[in-house]
Amino acid sequence: MFTYLVVAAVLPTLIMGSYPIVQCPGGLPSPIQFEIEGCDSSPCSVQRGAVIPFRATIIANENTPSLTLEIEIYAFGNANPWPVPPALANVCNHLEGRGCPVSAGEQVVHASSIPVIVDFGGGVPVTLRSRIYNASGSVMSCSVINARVY
Ligand SMILES: *[C@@H]1O[C@H](CO)[C@@H](O)[C@H](O)[C@H]1NC(C)=O
Repeated sequence: MFTYLVVAAVLPTLIMGSYPIVQCPGGLPSPIQFEIEGCDSSPCSVQRGAVIPFRATIIANENTPSLTLEIEIYAFGNANPWPVPPALANVCNHLEGRGCPVSAGEQVVHASSIPVIVDFGGGVPVTLRSRIYNASGSVMSCSVINARVY
């Protein structure tokens, strides 16, 4: 029983790679820690069609009743919106151990997973820019992830 509990507690940290934080343009706030399953260096190798768990630890810069996730993908020299499934766009439903509202200065963990919905593969380099917006449309957290899609 005890062994089982220890294994269960250690396993997630083994599979979650700590991704190097890349600052977003414009001085937008970044997470203080960003873990992506199977990825501890840049670029991440991801399989088209895979669903990739991640954990982003962020410090709220303002009080807000809601948090919304939007992602853009840069590929082949173009920026396009990434289709974030509606269930994932509401970040309040994916905060570890809590929901919203969030108060200024609180540390929260956004734990969710992202489906790799693209119609290309073969090692194409992509950059994802993910932003979490507060209720009035200001960015609370911005992340840049470089990946190759296979
Ligand atoms: C959103 O963030 C901006 C800038 O940090 C702040 O001025 C605003 O009050 C926040 N709005 C809400 C509703 O949280």
